[in-house]
Amino acid sequence: MEKLLAHISHLEINSPDVESSVAFYVEKFGMREIHRADGTVYLRCWGDYSTYSLAVAPGSAPGLQRMAWRVTSAAALEAAARRVEATGISGTWSTGGYGFGRAYEFEGPSGHPMRLVWDVDKYEADADHASVFPDRPERRSDHAGAPRFLDHVTVATQDVRAFINWHVETLGFRAMAYTDLDEAPITVFGVLTTNEKSHDLGVVLDTSDVRGRVNHIAFWVDTYEELALCADVLMERGTGMEYGPSVHGIGEQNFLYFREPSSLRVELNSGGYRNYVPDWEPVTWLPSDGSNNLYRNGAMPMSMTESFPAADGYTATEEGLSVEMKHEVLTAYSDHGRG
Ligand SMILES: [Fe+2]
Repeated sequence: MEKLLAHISHLEINSPDVESSVAFYVEKFGMREIHRADGTVYLRCWGDYSTYSLAVAPGSAPGLQRMAWRVTSAAALEAAARRVEATGISGTWSTGGYGFGRAYEFEGPSGHPMRLVWDVDKYEADADHASVFPDRPERRSDHAGAPRFLDHVTVATQDVRAFINWHVETLGFRAMAYTDLDEAPITVFGVLTTNEKSHDLGVVLDTSDVRGRVNHIAFWVDTYEELALCADVLMERGTGMEYGPSVHGIGEQNFLYFREPSSLRVELNSGGYRNYVPDWEPVTWLPSDGSNNLYRNGAMPMSMTESFPAADGYTATEEGLSVEMKHEVLTAYSDHGRG
């Protein structure tokens, strides 16, 4: 398959209180408001080459409204749409929206609205925001620990391996790693990438019957020092750290997690390895290998198993399951006569 997808482009999220969420992303986290229309506010990181990477739209509950991926060419957009339609999914063509042109939109196999786009508006800084360096879209933010880019999104699905297989076979994602339980070959987490990053799409197991949920959205800073500074700045401004800073085993990125005012989980990453291997065979980790916490000494808070919007049932994390979820999935597993 020719390479179809280039990178994650932007995310649209829902918040019951858009203004509170936007105030958080701008004043505490260091993003910048760039546009607003019809109740949706568009935010950018200083290093985003396109106009924005996050749109905050009104909604009754926190959640992911849509994830957008940039394809590698106009021809790749047509090819990707054909491949999606060939799986039995019917998408629609959009003439475009704020910051992007013609786009193919569809609901992914686990109920996540997706957008594929080639034409995106490049960000052109005004004199107040222009960088002294010619390849930066904007000068570095003055805000301590401000994110440079959007990094990835981690969503929830009822079948991690099926979700990953669909994205690999249909859109050419590379499957990079899985986490199976120590107790049984049940896959609770996996990561995919469109490029050399260890992942730009993650997926956790969801035992709820609500489709299209999200576990977290994630941004990037260049260095661990900036990541630690971000944690410090947020703590000083009343936002606690849900988990981290620490280092993931899978991908080897530094991480920290916190919540924005809607309760949606936000992650910040730096570091991590680059992987260019075109025929990479995905690796299966166990939580005891340190899949989530490289040092194997983390006490992950069980709040990390919450996904959005809230639903009955459980979601996993990179590190595995809560006691309650483990009981549920292992009981279902043994009820099928396996183990
Ligand atoms: Fe993540």
